[in-house]
Amino acid sequence: MARSDLILNLVKAGVEGNTSDARSIAEAIAADERAKKHAGVADRISRVLDAATPSKGSGRNSPAPRVRDGSGGIQRSEPLCSINELYLDATARSACDELIEEQRRADVLRAHGMEPRHRLLLAGPPGNGKTSLAEALAYELALPLFTVRYEAVVTSYLGETAQRLKRLFDFVRTEPCVLFFDEFDAIGKERGDIHETGEIKRVVTTLLLQLDDLPSYCVLVGATNHPELLDRAAWRRFELRLNLDRPTSHQMITYFSDQLKKFDEQPGYTAKRLIEKVMPTSYSEAEAFFLDIKRRYALAQGERELRSVIDSRVKVFASRRYRPDREYMDD
Ligand SMILES: Nc1ncnc2c1ncn2[C@@H]1O[C@H](COP(=O)(O)OP(=O)(O)OP(=O)(O)O)[C@@H](O)[C@H]1O
Ligand SMILES: [Mg+2]
Repeated sequence: MARSDLILNLVKAGVEGNTSDARSIAEAIAADERAKKHAGVADRISRVLDAATPSKGSGRNSPAPRVRDGSGGIQRSEPLCSINELYLDATARSACDELIEEQRRADVLRAHGMEPRHRLLLAGPPGNGKTSLAEALAYELALPLFTVRYEAVVTSYLGETAQRLKRLFDFVRTEPCVLFFDEFDAIGKERGDIHETGEIKRVVTTLLLQLDDLPSYCVLVGATNHPELLDRAAWRRFELRLNLDRPTSHQMITYFSDQLKKFDEQPGYTAKRLIEKVMPTSYSEAEAFFLDIKRRYALAQGERELRSVIDSRVKVFASRRYRPDREYMDD
C-alpha cells in the first residue's frame, strides 16, 4: 500500500490539474513501491507514466529538468567528474568505494534484510574536494546530482522554511539521486545556541525527521567547513563522516608530480622545489596554478619554454603570498 501522504498529494494535484506535480508524486509512489519490493505495481505505474510522457519539445516538462520540487529549491545536474580524478587519502577513498558498492549491490543487501548506507558528511577547509566528491559519487552511481539551493529554501519565516524543506524532500524521494547539501551547518545548526529562537529548533527537527525518512536509494551528501556548528543529532544521522583536510606535503608532491608529467617538455623544476615556491594550501589553489600555466603555455604556441612560463607564474603566485591561513598538514 502506498503512503497515504503521497496518495493525498496525488489526489490534490489531480484535482488542481497540476500534471507536473501529479507525475512527480506518481514517480515517488513507484519508487516507494519498488523499495518495498512491489515491483509489479511499480512497473505498472511507470508504464502508465511512460505512455503519457509528453512528446519532445512540448509542454512545460521539457527540456530537463523532468520534474521540479515546486519551490525551485533544487538544482539538477548531470555529474561529469569521476572519483579517479580526485586525490583522496586511503581512508576517504575506501569509505567511498564501500558506499558505492553498497549502493550498486543494494539488492544483495536487501535480500539479507539490510539497506545500503546512504548518508555521508564531508567536512574540511575550502577547496579540498567536498563538492567535487559529491559530484563524483553521483557519477559513479550514474545518478543525477540534486544540489539544494538555500536561497530558495531558507526564508526569514522559519515556519515557511520547514514547509519548504518538507516539500523539497518529498520531491527528492521521487527518484534515486545524490542529494547535495552544501554548507549543511546553515540548516543543521546546533539547537542549543542561545541566540536561536524556538523556530530554528522546528526547522532542525523537520530536517531530522526528513533525514530519517529518506529512502536509501537517495544518497545524501552534506558538506561543511564547520562541523563543530552542527547539531549533534544531525551529525549522528550520517552513517559515514569523512574529513577532506588540507593536503599533506607528501600528497601535494604527488599532485604536483602528476601535473608536471602531463607536459611534453621538461619543466626545469622538481615537484618539491616548485611547491616551496608556490606554497599552495589546498588542491583548489594547486589546480588554479597549473591551469594558469597551461593557459599561458598554450597561448605561447611554442614561442616560450615551459620553464620560463612556470617562472613567470611562480612570480604571480608569490606576489599573492601572505595569507594567515597558510600552513601544511603534517604527514
Ligand atoms: N582532492 C582533490 N583532488 C583533485 N582536485 C581537487 C580536490 N579537491 C579540490 N579539487 C579541485 O579544486 C576545485 C575546488 O574543489 P571543491 O569545490 O570540490 O572544494 P570544496 O571542498 O567543495 O570547497 P568549498 O568548501 O569552498 O565549497 C575543484 O575544481 C576541484 O577540481
Ligand atoms: Mg564546495
